[in-house]
Amino acid sequence: MAVNEQDVEQIVKQILSTMGAAPSTSASVGGQGAIPKTAHVAVLTSLKHFDIKEYPIPEVGDDDILVKVEGCGVCGTDAHEYKNDPFSLIPVALGHEGTGEIVKLGKNVKKDSAGKEVKVGDKIVTCMIFKDNPDITMFDLNKQNVGGADVYGLLPDDDCHLNGWFADYILIRGALGSTFFNVSDLDLDSRILIEPCAVLIHAVERAKTTGILRFNSRVAVQGCGPIGLICIAILRTMGIENITAVDGNEQRLAFAKRLGASKTVNFMEHKGIEALTAAVEASFDGHLADFAFQCTGNPGAHSNVYKFIRNGGGLCELGFFINGGDATINPHFDLCSKEITLVGSWVYTLRDYATTFDFLRRAKGIGLPMSELITHRFPLEQINEALETNLAMKGLKIAIVNK
Ligand SMILES: NC(=O)c1ccc[n+]([C@@H]2O[C@H](COP(=O)([O-])OP(=O)(O)OC[C@H]3O[C@@H](n4cnc5c(N)ncnc54)[C@H](O)[C@@H]3O)[C@@H](O)[C@H]2O)c1
Ligand SMILES: [Zn+2]
Repeated sequence: MAVNEQDVEQIVKQILSTMGAAPSTSASVGGQGAIPKTAHVAVLTSLKHFDIKEYPIPEVGDDDILVKVEGCGVCGTDAHEYKNDPFSLIPVALGHEGTGEIVKLGKNVKKDSAGKEVKVGDKIVTCMIFKDNPDITMFDLNKQNVGGADVYGLLPDDDCHLNGWFADYILIRGALGSTFFNVSDLDLDSRILIEPCAVLIHAVERAKTTGILRFNSRVAVQGCGPIGLICIAILRTMGIENITAVDGNEQRLAFAKRLGASKTVNFMEHKGIEALTAAVEASFDGHLADFAFQCTGNPGAHSNVYKFIRNGGGLCELGFFINGGDATINPHFDLCSKEITLVGSWVYTLRDYATTFDFLRRAKGIGLPMSELITHRFPLEQINEALETNLAMKGLKIAIVNK
């Protein structure tokens, strides 16, 4: 069909006028009018059971931020709480790996915890709530990881109820002292991955304190769940090229390659520690690793990892967020005579959170398929299914993504 110039002009005008008249889909554009009166919050009301509760959205105080939740990752901690309530929090609004858009801002809130300006429409994530130590800031050079701090999504229930990210709205209250960051320049998947990535940024920072991790290091990463895979992606964005991933799951090993591993070793194919060590050595063309990251919660894997490391090499153990039992090593062969430098790593500091944003931008920049770490996306109403999927150890990262 031939279209003359006049027709084109007419069509463009028509489209522009519809765009102007179209109702806004974003609450921020609609301003306060677009904010509903009630919010839906997934509350863990008993073991292995969430109810979606409806609560009135409270007044937004001068120091508060009302956020329309876009999504939230399911963390191992959520799964522990769902299954066993180890923190005795029931009834509790869970979800701490969340992100969303500011729809209303108290008049005193001008900047985020890094000093970046915030306005309605910006996308944010929360980090720690320093209840016991309100003086600490991200510019404090002391090591201060999340131990001793609270986070939204693990707070006891209160009159506000909008305390967790498994919800459609969350109220960030200045009085609680939460830290938060403006991450508007990151896409939704990257924002959902910030918290687990911060764990690995911290681990790599810990590894760097040994002085052994360098650009040309041979690095073994043992365990290719989300933790090991993100570790590989971070090493890759740092320019480290010689990475061997070790796991028993071929699919995960294949993904490890796409995230930056140069070689993979499937431990199921090698019987006994000597054969496995020989396979790791072969992957580095006849050398042992200069450095290793232990990213499984398996005590036997902790015992094994020393064997993969050369004399004078380094090890970062980060696989035991919770107690996984004792591991046996031979102090003479594994540690003393080899002069291994060992660091442990547990969660992250506020400063690592900010570094994580740079990492995610860089990972995207060099084309690492980070989004594919999120293998399952559930709507809020299917929160119970989401947690069951996590417990069944299906996929990698499970997330709640709101419509
Ligand atoms: N340090 C921290 O702050 C921190 C934070 C979060 C999680 N973690 C820990 O990190 C660990 C890994 O987390 P994830 O989410 O990736 O878990 P995951 O269970 O998804 O992955 C673990 C991987 O290790 C592999 N594995 C098991 N035994 C192995 C062995 N002997 N050799 C090689 N590979 C082996 C499994 O096949 C699996 O792919 C967990 O144990 C968790 O406690 C630590
Ligand atoms: Zn978490």
